[in-house]
Formats: sequence, C-alpha cells, structure tokens
Amino acid sequence: MKIMVVGSGGREHTLTWKIMQSPLVDEIYCAPGNAGISKLANCVDISAEDIKGLADFALDKKIDLTVVGPEAPLALGIVDEFARRGLKIFGPSKNAAQLEGSKIFAKELMKKYGIPTAEYKVFDNPKEAQDFVKEIGTPVVIKADGLAAGKGVIIAQTEKEAAAGIRRIMKDREFGSAGDRIVVEECLVGREVSILAFTDGETVVPMVSSQDHKRVYDNDEGPNTGGMGAFAPSPFYTPELAQIVERDVLQKTVEAMKKEGCPYKGVLYAGLMLTSKGVKVLEYNCRFGDPETQVVLPLLETDLVHIMEAIIEDRLDEIEIKWKNKKAVCVVMASGGYPMDYDKGFEIKGLEEVEKLEGVYIFHAGTAIKDGKIVTSGGRVLGVTALGDELKSAAEKAYTGVERIYFEGAHYRKDIGINQ
Ligand code: AMP
Ligand code: GLY
Repeated sequence: MKIMVVGSGGREHTLTWKIMQSPLVDEIYCAPGNAGISKLANCVDISAEDIKGLADFALDKKIDLTVVGPEAPLALGIVDEFARRGLKIFGPSKNAAQLEGSKIFAKELMKKYGIPTAEYKVFDNPKEAQDFVKEIGTPVVIKADGLAAGKGVIIAQTEKEAAAGIRRIMKDREFGSAGDRIVVEECLVGREVSILAFTDGETVVPMVSSQDHKRVYDNDEGPNTGGMGAFAPSPFYTPELAQIVERDVLQKTVEAMKKEGCPYKGVLYAGLMLTSKGVKVLEYNCRFGDPETQVVLPLLETDLVHIMEAIIEDRLDEIEIKWKNKKAVCVVMASGGYPMDYDKGFEIKGLEEVEKLEGVYIFHAGTAIKDGKIVTSGGRVLGVTALGDELKSAAEKAYTGVERIYFEGAHYRKDIGINQ
C-alpha cells in the first residue's frame, strides 16, 4: 500500500513511525512533514490545509490511504473532498468534525443526550456574557466557539479576568470568527485524563488512557502550551471508571452523532475531568492528541493500518486491538522562550546517540534540515518517548535521552511522568 500522512508535528512523526511498521505498507508520504519524518517518509511540500492540493497529489500518486493528523483540515472537509474523489481517507467528515470545530455544537450535543459535562451558557453578546459571569461567580471558563489552535479557552479567576477574556475573544477578535459566539461555563476541578478511542461510527474501542501536561513549567505552572509532555496509561483511570466512560461518554457520543445525521468515524478524543461529582467531558477532539499520540501509539501492539482499514470499512468489531503491558512517558523539548517568542535555526545535537538507546524514541515536531544539519524550526522542537515497566522507569529513561540532546535555549519540564 501507499500511505500519506497529513501534518508536520510530533503526532504525525509517531503516526508515520507506527504506520511504517505495518507489513501492508510499501511506500509512505507525508505532507508537509519535518526533518524527523523525512527519514522515514517522502515529505512533500503541500500544506496540511491545502485540501485540493492534497487530493490532487493523492490521485496522482495513487495513494491507497490518507491519514489526517491535525484538526484544521478535518474541519475544512478534507474527508468529504477525498471521498468525493474516490480516495480512501481516515478521519471524520466535516459534519462530524464539528465535535471539535464548534464548542457550542459539542456542548449542545452533550446536553441533549445526557453526556456529563460542565454547566454552561452560550453568548453572542459580550455584555450578556459578562452579566452571566457576575451571576455565577468565578472561577469561570470562557471558550471561543471555533478552532483557535488550542488557545481559545480562558480560565478566569476573577470577574476582571473574565471581562478581559470576553473582550479578547469577542471585541479584539483574537481568534477571528471563531469568537463570534462563546461558551461561558462552570470551572471544573480535578485530574484530567485523555481518552482516545477508535470508532467506525458503531463500534467504539478505547485506547490506553493518557495525560498531557499543557503548562510550560514544572508542577503545572506558567502559561499553557501545545503540550510539554505526556504519559500513559493514567494511574487514576481505574477499570471501573473506564467502564463508565465507555458507556456514558464514548458510546453515547457516537450514538448521538449517528442520530444527529453526522456519523463519526476515526479517532474520537474525549478530554475528561475526574471531579468529586464524577467524570465530566471538558472537550472533544476529532483526531489523535498531541503529545498523547507519542505515548499511546508506542504501546499499541496491533497493526495500525489494519485498524484504520477496518474503521473505513465499518468492521471495527472484527478486529482485536492489543496493547503492550508497559508504561510510556514523552518529554517535550522546546525552544527557549516558548510559548512566547523564540528564535529558530539552532542545530540539534545528540540525536543519533539517543536513537540508539533501547526503548527510547525521538519524535520530531518543529525541526528542519538546513545545510545537511537538523535545526530547530518551531516552538515545540521534539519529544523523547521511553517505555518501561513502570512510569518511573519510563520517565528516567526518557530523561536520559533528553539530557543527551542539545540545542541552544532548549527547555523542558523535569516532572513528566514523575510522582503521578
Ligand atoms: P482546549 O484543548 O484548548 O479545548 O483546552 C482545554 C483545556 O482547558 C483542558 O485541558 C482544561 O485544562 C481546560 N478546561 C476546559 N474546560 C474547563 C472547565 N470547564 N473547567 C476547568 N478547566 C477547563
Ligand atoms: N493534547 C491536547 C490536544 O491534542 O488537543
């Protein structure tokens, strides 16, 4: 088979790496990819959001299966466009991707079908939103309705912060039309768990649980980032909890989507908060998580291409999905200054040595090749994943790798997978 992976981050490097392990695969392409991916796949210079360009390429190269990493092309309808042209693609349709593309769509669906989530109200008027904040008090969460590259959620500790958040989204229009409407919701407290699940629109098979770390500094301090690391499975996600989530969240969501006329196929990601009043859905994503993928896929025993084909052909129930009885930790190394301004173009050293370590994998995110050298080209530069029998040993191994990689200004959290 010829496969194309769409995207250019650590998630896509991991997808490419896992897909390459399938005996079904002869050739793999990635659009646009990064320096790490280019060692495994033919990288093609087409943007992940250039849906027409990607479909033209897939037709021309006779790609047998396209796998989409990021949410933006899904929300733009890449799956519909490929299907229209008779091309096989893994992911939800544009309608189904609304589950991530519109927070209001997701909240209304959850309310209608009794899926547990935070109390909320929708506003298209900043004054009314602010009055509602006064009514329910703080802390409170303000969310732009549309896609905002992970930055559209503001947790406001005071009324003033809430007012500033509402202003940024609705008046300054920081996220453009994604902020035409907002959700104001109850602030939940608890531990977060990410549950990714495979689904063909009928059968739902959850993957191992995981947790990411969005804050830039140790002990979950500092501003939010795209993710500074992850571990899997989560020790807080008990088998009892898994049963509840499978029944009351995953299965219910997939059934609800079918009833709403937008059957959901692909990876369904439920971001959960384990609160004292039970588990609640914080958000849905319509794709693999980043950096969760960097810890989940290395634990997957089964051939991923096999699973994806079964999903596309509506026969996920025929597949047995197996996981390694191990733990995984991924530590992200970021550019100096990230998530604020940072410089790029610094040479990355030590990669080859770390690649030789048993059970340690480097997944590139923001890297490029310049004059034959691998250099930094983004905020999150790479992730080092390690497997172990315990989270502690996996974390120690990951940090052994991280400490041997060097680029100017590199920074990373020291507590990923430790003391969980
Ligand atoms: P995003 O991935 O951009 O939708 O951001 C979701 C993140 O915002 C979650 O991982 C939580 O950390 C936080 N969050 C979202 N909704 C709530 C809520 N109702 N209460 C507390 N934290 C929330
Ligand atoms: N790790 C959060 C996300 O993928 O959106």
